[in-house]
Amino acid sequence: MDNYFITKPPYTKARHNQSLLKLVKFLNKVFRKLKLGLVISPIDTTVDMNTIEQRINYYHLLNMVIQKGIAGDVVELGCFSGQCALLFEKVLEQNHSDKKLHLYDSFEIKFAEKGNVEDVLKESFGLANLRLPELHKGYFEQTLPGQLPEKIAFAHIDCGHGGDKLQHKEIMLFCFEQIYPKMSPGSICVLMDYNDPDVNGPGHDANPGVKLAWDEFFKDKPEQIVPLYGNQYFHAYFTKQ
Ligand SMILES: C[S@@+](CC[C@H](N)C(=O)[O-])C[C@H]1O[C@@H](n2cnc3c(N)ncnc32)[C@H](O)[C@@H]1O
Repeated sequence: MDNYFITKPPYTKARHNQSLLKLVKFLNKVFRKLKLGLVISPIDTTVDMNTIEQRINYYHLLNMVIQKGIAGDVVELGCFSGQCALLFEKVLEQNHSDKKLHLYDSFEIKFAEKGNVEDVLKESFGLANLRLPELHKGYFEQTLPGQLPEKIAFAHIDCGHGGDKLQHKEIMLFCFEQIYPKMSPGSICVLMDYNDPDVNGPGHDANPGVKLAWDEFFKDKPEQIVPLYGNQYFHAYFTKQ
């Protein structure tokens, strides 16, 4: 079994050279010896869309949904170049799951990506020898109403770009409205960037609109939010009742 592309292409595109990784390993050893309680994760926040800790969380949450036999497919709202999607598809294929992976994105934001984002995604799936998921290109307002699967077992909402928090909140609310009725009982939805400063303490609150949307949409619903440790980035999940 490989490491789910954490330090190997196509996820990293060899951005972390071997000498840097060796230095990180050495520094972590020193931190441990000095009992500093610090760990460096070798991620580059200008290009990496998630942390190693978050990838471990995704791995276990998706496996759990598959093994429990929760009905429905897997959706990601905001797939960008497919860094999470590669992991989701890998987990599905390792489990010989018949669940389909559906990806939604306008593919208009580039962040630090040089090429065409949709092409980079397709190329990465080819390099990883994984089935190409169903791509739903366009703004969520155009794609979600008619193109979501009938039932959802696992969802990842990751549509932030560090912009205006109220605008982001509105996009999140739209995503909740669309996927919530389709989520099967026991299904899981992970919210990238969900941050509750009272729970997590200080850190980079990249997209505060996520929590604003959660607070509004779920105020009269039974689901509970579960914040997860993600090192440099925050995220959380809920289980549909
Ligand atoms: C942080 S990136 C997602 C990273 C991705 N999950 C990964 O693992 O590589 C956010 C994505 O959300 C998309 N997005 C944001 N708002 C959107 C909208 N209203 N409709 C479609 N896509 C949207 C952007 O195009 C961008 O690619």
